[in-house]
Amino acid sequence: MKILMVCLGNICRSPIAHGIMESKIKKLNLNWTVDSAGTSGWHVGEQPDKRAIATCKAKGLNIVHQKSRKITKGDIEYYDVIFAMDANNYNDILRLCQSDEQKAKVKLMTGYLYPGRNTPIPDPYYDDRFEEVYTLIDLATDSFLKSMVVTSP
Ligand code: 4NP
Repeated sequence: MKILMVCLGNICRSPIAHGIMESKIKKLNLNWTVDSAGTSGWHVGEQPDKRAIATCKAKGLNIVHQKSRKITKGDIEYYDVIFAMDANNYNDILRLCQSDEQKAKVKLMTGYLYPGRNTPIPDPYYDDRFEEVYTLIDLATDSFLKSMVVTSP
């Protein structure tokens, strides 16, 4: 399975989601891939935000090699599951979709953890909620993995 994590800037939430999912895929020995992208392109070419790097480092995850990029229509065709961090990201990604089949790939990050509740991964860029973001993505990715009938690490 090929998974794409998407937020606005691709420097805070989706790099954390990318790092967490990458680590779980590795621990579970799955033949899956994960990448991340942003809807805005405002930070293209940049490393993740230093607060995102520090939050992940404290949990044993290294995300310094990641580089921000903007999501493309080609990504939507290529990836199997596209996780939006919040409803704005979700709607922006849907606008890039060219078929109902593509639209069906787009899911909210918390959709498996809190079905039907439209719970966002809060944007930590201005308010520093990186711990909360990490915890919520950790829980949400566990729920997704469980739903795929894979035992979570
Ligand atoms: P992200 O956070 O979407 O989680 O990467 C943000 C990063 C940058 C900005 C906003 C949110 N910005 O306004 O530049």
